[in-house]
Amino acid sequence: MTQAELNELLNDMSRSEKVEQLVQLHGGFFGNIDVYTGPVVDFHMTADQPYRTGSVLGEHGAAHLKDLQNRMMEKQPHRIPALFMADVIHGYKTGFPVPIAIGSSFNPALAEQIASAAAKEAAASGVHVTFSPMVDLVRDSRWGRCMESTGEDPWLNARMAESMVSGFQGGDYGEKGKVAACAKHFAAYGAVQSGRDYNVTEISEHTLFEDYLVSYRAAVKAGVSMVMTAFNTIDRQPCTTNRRLLREILRKDMGFEGVVISDYAAVSESVTHGSSASLRDAAKKAMEAGCDIDMMSECYLHHLESLIEDGELSESLLDEAVMRVLVLKNRLGLFENPYKDASEEDERSLHFCPEHRELSRRAAEETTVLLKNDGALPLDEKQKIVVVGALADDKEITGSWALFVDESRTVTLREAVQELYPNADTEFFASDEIAGEMLAAAGKADVVVLALGENQNQSGESFSKADISLSKAHAALFEAVYGVNQNIVTVLFGGRPLAVPELAEKTNALVEAWLPGSCGSYALADILFGRVNPSGRLSMSMPYCTGQLPLSYGAFSTGRPKPDMQGFCPFVSNYMDAPNVPLYPFGYGLSYGEVAYSPVRLDSSVLTRDGKLTASVRVKNCGSLPVKEAVQLYIRDITGSVVRPLRELKGLQKIELAAGEETEVCFEITEEMLRFYDRDMNFVSEAGAFTLWIGHDSLTDNGADFRLE
Ligand code: BGC
Repeated sequence: MTQAELNELLNDMSRSEKVEQLVQLHGGFFGNIDVYTGPVVDFHMTADQPYRTGSVLGEHGAAHLKDLQNRMMEKQPHRIPALFMADVIHGYKTGFPVPIAIGSSFNPALAEQIASAAAKEAAASGVHVTFSPMVDLVRDSRWGRCMESTGEDPWLNARMAESMVSGFQGGDYGEKGKVAACAKHFAAYGAVQSGRDYNVTEISEHTLFEDYLVSYRAAVKAGVSMVMTAFNTIDRQPCTTNRRLLREILRKDMGFEGVVISDYAAVSESVTHGSSASLRDAAKKAMEAGCDIDMMSECYLHHLESLIEDGELSESLLDEAVMRVLVLKNRLGLFENPYKDASEEDERSLHFCPEHRELSRRAAEETTVLLKNDGALPLDEKQKIVVVGALADDKEITGSWALFVDESRTVTLREAVQELYPNADTEFFASDEIAGEMLAAAGKADVVVLALGENQNQSGESFSKADISLSKAHAALFEAVYGVNQNIVTVLFGGRPLAVPELAEKTNALVEAWLPGSCGSYALADILFGRVNPSGRLSMSMPYCTGQLPLSYGAFSTGRPKPDMQGFCPFVSNYMDAPNVPLYPFGYGLSYGEVAYSPVRLDSSVLTRDGKLTASVRVKNCGSLPVKEAVQLYIRDITGSVVRPLRELKGLQKIELAAGEETEVCFEITEEMLRFYDRDMNFVSEAGAFTLWIGHDSLTDNGADFRLE
């Protein structure tokens, strides 16, 4: 449709019809109840009314959605097609590693491929919009939803966000195999107090703009078509009714022109927050704030019309919101083809197809992080290997928010090892029980592989924890095995970085497998047996203990920094009972064989405002396997008008090197990369001294100094 035709359509719509376009319900209102993530409530609707709403949440399947679309359009006075939205977070039918793992690939191009594969599968099932990417920055692994984030770093999250938007949407999401993307949860949901889900966020203006908003800004710049509001408050106001956040920051400052949707029931929850007096008041506030669609509450449905009739709300706000929804439908091509790509035939050829399974496996090759290796890895097929732990044969490693993934097809570690390494001398005790037979076998093994950590039900929405150490059962299992055999390789599963200092100390090799998706166990097996060289890097720091949280490498110097020493030091900033530093830092991860870096070379020690400076290193694979190396650039602004982080990731190149190969890696540094929010919240750079580092992780000391003049 042309814009003129859309205007004509809007003019012709009744007020109630317009309001209904702004209401989103889940499938329960249409006789199905596949997915719901909040309270199931009765919205006091007539039987026909759900069919007149503008969009549906969580429904899927080509045949079903074609039928539902027909039924909905029949009831629509203007035959306006419905939008079908769903949470396609890390795959649709093929499950890919969870987003925290995708962040750990340090490979935005891979994130784009994953999003693109997920889009193809979901589009074939009639899905028009995915509630992804989740771009919330997170530095506290008590929050179960860190599983859905790409990690703690603003710059890396921004690269992941734009790559996922481009993977889902392509250049034009009206095209076949593409879906519209929705960045969520705006804003700073990842900073909920104490890591407890749905809690409030208390955040400084600087931290909000400098760290938490960066990835949203990148998603908007990449053309994301929707943004979802967050459950939390900011500045003591729920995000969904927060006018400054939605109208000033998102729309005006960031230039977002797409559709804003509330999170599930979040409009009505502003009443529970105590910032709206009634559902009617909540509807008014959310509409004025700029929230276009009300997901799963009756606020808009029952109150928008009367608010306008009573002169309490301007009809132009309603029109504006409805037009944005119509424009989205139009860009998806729904007025011409309301089913978009829904096709049973394409479902058959695309869902869980060999190409996507292969991508799921390849992805996990890059998302698995080798944290420690005293030489126990890789395993040798001739060794007697005993594998212990329920997670070694658990399909619930696919990942939370793998709503539509066929979990029965997820390959477990046991299945992968037995299929790929049939000649290896392995024995599996896939249980967490400390049984005599298991201990006897473990005692006689050359090496024990222990599968520990959390399965997919231990993290995700609402699954916050106050203690992120290893569970008592797993700690006891480890100790029991350690008592009979001290050559242990530990594989940690889970959607959050756990605090496992005892494992780091006692195990000979430690592998962070995250929740690797449908076929990730193949990659894990290949890494364990050395067929694949691990190349994942931590997208979140791993703490020693829960009390260190929130934790990030991008911290600030205090006025009393701790001197370089072990143990407690009085009257400086440190803990009596824990170090300041993480167990393993952001960006950290090992490969088999050393990758050596030459000292950093700068082509000049001075950067002018309109000039550029080139920083380079030579990187050599000294090992005997090909390696993928995430070469990381960090910068520190030594002095600023406001305090500046100790270092910030500013560049990344994931390169591949054959055994023995050496190459030069260059980064261009420009003034723009040095900007930050100054005392008056102007985004500027300040002349002065800087240090940059290029190396393997956020602890690298391979640095050089320069000045901005
Ligand atoms: C979650 C969102 C999700 C929505 C729809 C909410 O509970 O916070 O991330 O997109 O449900 O399923």
